[in-house]
Amino acid sequence: MRARKKKNTVPRLERVADRFTPTIPAGEEEIRVEVGCGKGKFITALAKDHPNVQFYALEKIPDVIVMAAEKAAREEIGNVKFLLADAKDLTEGIDIKFMGLDENRKPILENVAHEALCPSHSVSVLYLNFSDPLPNNKHAHLRLTHADFLERYRTVLKADGHIEFKTDNKPLFDFSVEQFQECNYEIYDYTEDLHHSDIPNPYHTEYETRFSEMGMPIYSLKARPPKEKA
Ligand SMILES: C[S@@+](CC[C@H](N)C(=O)[O-])C[C@H]1O[C@@H](n2cnc3c(N)ncnc32)[C@H](O)[C@@H]1O
Repeated sequence: MRARKKKNTVPRLERVADRFTPTIPAGEEEIRVEVGCGKGKFITALAKDHPNVQFYALEKIPDVIVMAAEKAAREEIGNVKFLLADAKDLTEGIDIKFMGLDENRKPILENVAHEALCPSHSVSVLYLNFSDPLPNNKHAHLRLTHADFLERYRTVLKADGHIEFKTDNKPLFDFSVEQFQECNYEIYDYTEDLHHSDIPNPYHTEYETRFSEMGMPIYSLKARPPKEKA
């Protein structure tokens, strides 16, 4: 999603700071997560109708997530929290940090470990809605349905949890099916025209509304992670 850089994003973020969390805490009864929530239409509507579920919405662009958090604040939705974060940090990892220059003006780089944003095996449903298609194959590893991401999601999903994925983009959909299969997920509720199928789909995202109004089919699937080896 392209958003123009807005000057007042920081004060706006400060005003809705109580809607944010740096990490997803352990111990909630039911947790659902949307990765790449955009302006938050989908997650806020879903959260409103499911007050006993705790929702978390991840988005990496400050100008965009602030709109989602403001929407939740305006509508007084208490059971959705926002994480200004990259999906790759859902699980623990190593970041390369620039620490300055040495006496020969060479960069000093250090590997710094970061903790997982999400407790392992805690998430019931993980939503991927209209993820950026990134058509250039050079960027395939950044697609949110790339095998590297599917492996991270497997770590955070409960044993009986699942992923729900929707897109307007056929090449991304085909790529994603391959990646789910490569990672041994079990695909179900597969459709190449969600809006003309029997699969219930009461919550539409901003992109979904836009593309379906243009008459484009919506591709969708659900996927269960492979069972952990005992
Ligand atoms: C095309 S938009 C779709 C927004 C919304 N889900 C919808 O359907 O209207 C994709 C969103 O995913 C976010 N995104 C892409 N890669 C991400 C990542 N690695 N971590 C977090 N958010 C990401 C983008 O910033 C963008 O807002």
